[in-house]
Amino acid sequence: MKETEPKRDLLSIDDFEKELSGIIDWAIKMKNDDGFAENFKPLDGMTIGSIYEKPSTRTRVSFEVGVHKLGGQPLTLLANDIQLGKSESIADTAAVLSRFMDGITYRCFGHSDVQELASHATVPVINALSDMHHPCQAAADLMAVTENSDSVKGHVSWVGDGNNVLHDLMLACASLGIDIKYATPEGFEPDPDIVSRAVSIASGNSCSISATNDPVEAVSDAGVIYTDVFVSMGEEGMKGKIDAFNGFQVNEELVSNAHPDYLFMHCLPAHRGEEVTDAVIDSKNSIVFDQAENRMWAQMSLLTKMCNDAAWHTYNELF
Ligand code: CP
Ligand code: NVA
Repeated sequence: MKETEPKRDLLSIDDFEKELSGIIDWAIKMKNDDGFAENFKPLDGMTIGSIYEKPSTRTRVSFEVGVHKLGGQPLTLLANDIQLGKSESIADTAAVLSRFMDGITYRCFGHSDVQELASHATVPVINALSDMHHPCQAAADLMAVTENSDSVKGHVSWVGDGNNVLHDLMLACASLGIDIKYATPEGFEPDPDIVSRAVSIASGNSCSISATNDPVEAVSDAGVIYTDVFVSMGEEGMKGKIDAFNGFQVNEELVSNAHPDYLFMHCLPAHRGEEVTDAVIDSKNSIVFDQAENRMWAQMSLLTKMCNDAAWHTYNELF
């Protein structure tokens, strides 16, 4: 991190509420810039460490490739290979890594763990997924919605669990003034404090957050249908949880209620045949692989903003 800048952390997408639209526009510019971006190396000489306590394909690869494209050195630290959680505390790990790294990303179980790491690190910390939040996913997802804004003809709908991905999707939609309707089974609603925060942001941006237990109600006339796995990482022991999701599969019958040009979204990995059918995820309406690619561009924007804000502004002004 450039030492003149105060450290900022990204623990939930709410941490960049006011800047989210600019972060996304920057990422879209960078994605479509095959000239200057080649020589733009705002992380030159910097090392970004990424700790994983859970598996990852998209997050790990998008951070490694994105940091490299920005001129930095990515360093992946798998939980089984480091002292964290065995013989060393989060606080000491944060202090030690801050002596070597210019930024740290952390995929953990309990959200309090990434909060603790951030509070003891002297360099920016990015939540790479916790049980409560997945801010990088929300940034990439709203980037995909923005890229398709000319064709999105209705609200964003969510069908499934009231989980980490929904929390940040809801906060991000509220920040960008996009209506969202979510359907979850009874007992699997999102966190009430996060819903309250999203409603408060939405009220300032002329949009709405609405909740139902009826998937048909959520997707009716929707411009976007989003779902995620019914059982998240860390919940494997919650036997029987999946039974609560009868009727929540996103299939051809359910999507027939949406706008004909609706977009299908999923953070991936998908459990095909469970929360979504092949016919839907492989349809022309599906943008799931654009979302996956956008993880890298959105994170490049966030990393540049957090580790070298002056360069972020320079790039923004030049293009
Ligand atoms: N969407 C997402 O975070 O994917 P990974 O678990 O593969 O990183
Ligand atoms: N809700 C899922 C998202 C995976 C990217 C999980 O936490 O496992």
